[in-house]
Amino acid sequence: RARRIVASVLLPLSLTACTEGNARVPAQQVAHAAPGAASAGDSVVPGSGNGGYDVQHYDLDLKITPRAHPAVAGTTTITATATQALSRFDLDLTGLDVTKVTVGGVSAEHGRAPGKLVVTPPKPIAKGGSFTVAVTYSGNPQAVDDHLLGRYGWIRTGDGVFTGDEPDGAHSWFPGNDHPGDKATFGFRVTVPRGLTAVANGELAGTTESGDTATYTWRERDPMATYLAMVDVGRFKIRSGRTPGGVPVYVAVDPSVDKAGLDALYANTVKVTDAWAKLFGPYPFTSTGGVVDDAPVQFALETQTRPEYIAGMAALPTVVAHELSHQWFGDSVSVTRWSDMWLNEGFATYAEWMWGERENPADTVQQQFDSRYAQTRSSDLWNIPPAAPGRTALFGRSVYDRGAMALHALRKKVGDERFFAILRAWTAEHRHGNATTAQFTALAQRVSGMDLRHLFQVWLYDRGRPVNW
Ligand code: ARG
Ligand code: ZN
Repeated sequence: RARRIVASVLLPLSLTACTEGNARVPAQQVAHAAPGAASAGDSVVPGSGNGGYDVQHYDLDLKITPRAHPAVAGTTTITATATQALSRFDLDLTGLDVTKVTVGGVSAEHGRAPGKLVVTPPKPIAKGGSFTVAVTYSGNPQAVDDHLLGRYGWIRTGDGVFTGDEPDGAHSWFPGNDHPGDKATFGFRVTVPRGLTAVANGELAGTTESGDTATYTWRERDPMATYLAMVDVGRFKIRSGRTPGGVPVYVAVDPSVDKAGLDALYANTVKVTDAWAKLFGPYPFTSTGGVVDDAPVQFALETQTRPEYIAGMAALPTVVAHELSHQWFGDSVSVTRWSDMWLNEGFATYAEWMWGERENPADTVQQQFDSRYAQTRSSDLWNIPPAAPGRTALFGRSVYDRGAMALHALRKKVGDERFFAILRAWTAEHRHGNATTAQFTALAQRVSGMDLRHLFQVWLYDRGRPVNW
């Protein structure tokens, strides 16, 4: 949830074509191997992501010393499956010194290109083959400062570091396939100066102390997009437990930010997690929670199982409702390409409105819709179709508010029963996967048995303020 609207500036985008070969190459003919594509071909994040392989698992073994140089040192090991015969492949990685790369345990040639680590395995990898690539590196990751998207990525805090990577800041601190189209499970082994805690996604599997350091091991067992991977290092007050619905909870609050916030965040997280599970379908992951830190950024982020909040935002139940709704809409059901961002933010904004109405029945969803619909001159809302925002309006009002208005228009058309059946079918059918706007509109038509083409056309794809639907 963004606190301010990003300025609208038109940026000409160069689209890198996806030139991945798709011929069937039998294992013995690895001689036909070709380099994997150097981009996922997503115009919102040109250059990010790669072709030719599909990551199954990331294992991050990192020493993080936030105030020292290098701030990060260690090895990221990636287990992947080749989707074509590969002579060479790219990993996303910006900055940092790479000292060693192995493929299948054998030293591999490697070079750098802007935003990339180019790996040539000792011998080609057959299509369908599983391989591991281990990258040993160190350095000081730099925050991304983008004139359209603001500051994101590796963000230093007063006593540590916070990682808020949407959409493609993850590769400033670990190598990988930095695009939500390729989700994988994660393991984190993070060594920090003693006295600091490392919080990551999933569940804490162990803590050990040795000399002046402490090592925290975390595991995320469900597939996760790279932008949702999080390591937050600092001094924290921690509370853990279980929701009445049975979901394990872990919340961490930097006491310098919010002395009284721990119990409030815990209570809101418990309440929202169970309420959304009743409305949207079973909670998709093995734990829930949140982290509050003093990161100098202007957003909260739905990092998987454990959203990140900045000072002031975690105390707001509607913000917790927004970020936890993303666990279903965005984290479990993920975009296939970033231009479908309204599938994340339109849904989370709608959830925020619904939470507001629960807390204060006078503050209705209908009123949220009406007050925006009355803004006849709001250019961003009406000039930008939510299903085609480009990079300029990725976090803009159309994606968030008009996206939510599209859902309200749908709800009014099909009725509450069918509307919530659509949401539950969506989270069930694409659980832990990826989906597109076309898949959502098709599903809504199928579940409702109604012709909704005009409604979706005017609310999602057309410029201009819809007048009838
Ligand atoms: N997905 C976040 C939310 O709405 C917003 C992230 C904003 N990111 C950024 N780079 N400005 O919950
Ligand atoms: Zn959001």
